[in-house]
Amino acid sequence: MDVKLRIHRFVEGRKWEQDYTVTLKTGMTVLEALIEIKEKQDPTLSFTCSCRSSICGACAVRVNGNAELACEMLVENLVKRYDTNELIIEPLGNFKVIRDLVVDWDPKYARIKKIKPVVQPKAEFSKETGCKQSPEDFNKYKKYAGCILCGSCVSECNKNTLNQADFLDPFVFVKAEKLVADSRDKSPEEHLKAVVDAGLWRCFNCQECTAKCPKGLDPAGAIEKLKEATFAKKLDDNVGARHAKAIYDDISESGTLDESKLNIKSEGFLMAGLRAPMALRLMRVGKMNPLDKHKVNPEIETIRKIVKNAEAAAKEAE
Ligand code: SF4
Ligand code: SF4
Ligand code: FES
Repeated sequence: MDVKLRIHRFVEGRKWEQDYTVTLKTGMTVLEALIEIKEKQDPTLSFTCSCRSSICGACAVRVNGNAELACEMLVENLVKRYDTNELIIEPLGNFKVIRDLVVDWDPKYARIKKIKPVVQPKAEFSKETGCKQSPEDFNKYKKYAGCILCGSCVSECNKNTLNQADFLDPFVFVKAEKLVADSRDKSPEEHLKAVVDAGLWRCFNCQECTAKCPKGLDPAGAIEKLKEATFAKKLDDNVGARHAKAIYDDISESGTLDESKLNIKSEGFLMAGLRAPMALRLMRVGKMNPLDKHKVNPEIETIRKIVKNAEAAAKEAE
């Protein structure tokens, strides 16, 4: 069977889509199809790859709108998944494109530096003793040490698409959680302060990064763990943390959200006052009435049990 690859091309400011056809062979990966095109049909086509074994992260591209590792993804599986023999190949989203499928990682590496991305060893370690830790302590961050910097999570991040200036890339939060959970690091607070400043509470919690990570690393879960750590380390004097706390308090106490107080609790009277025009609009359309008594949900005991069970489950998973 022939498979048509429609590839998004970009060369020196000119953009276009170009169609190529490859004959599907069993076990052929997207990367092998790209290499065949480059070697036999069009040497001008550009893309990046290195290990061809899903460990260097260099080959990630978007296929039919979803980030994939080209060296891992079989063409036959994509043909089955999308029920078509035409695939659209694009560079990763939320990156600057250099040429064709090649994206610019330099700004991303610069952003990693914001979280001081190396272990600061505790004073008890030395050159002679090294930085030892128990297998139990290693297991606390092992999962997050497996990031291969492929960029798939960035490509799918809705917050990054809206605005990258006030939010780090999902893999940076993975790296930060690895450092914060590492028992050898003397100052998890430093990494935490950096992630709070760099947008920790601005995540949309859409889970796209987690769904697309080819290594199953759960960047959205890392973000939640970092948020929890900011409470444990008393780094919670910010709008995001106060907002989360206000929601938690409302739900535990009454089982409903008191929208008219939520903003005051999160941002304080002054900032909430600046939002008065929006509050008036909500009142006008009947979405909010500050004179209404905040009712207690009749199911409050069930809701409290759910909150308690969720807390116990989270503790057990630690
Ligand atoms: S959960 Fe947060 S970090 Fe992940 S893709 Fe959505 S907005 Fe981005
Ligand atoms: S977190 Fe996953 S998707 Fe993101 S760069 Fe690391 S390996 Fe790739
Ligand atoms: S070429 Fe290294 S991960 Fe695909």
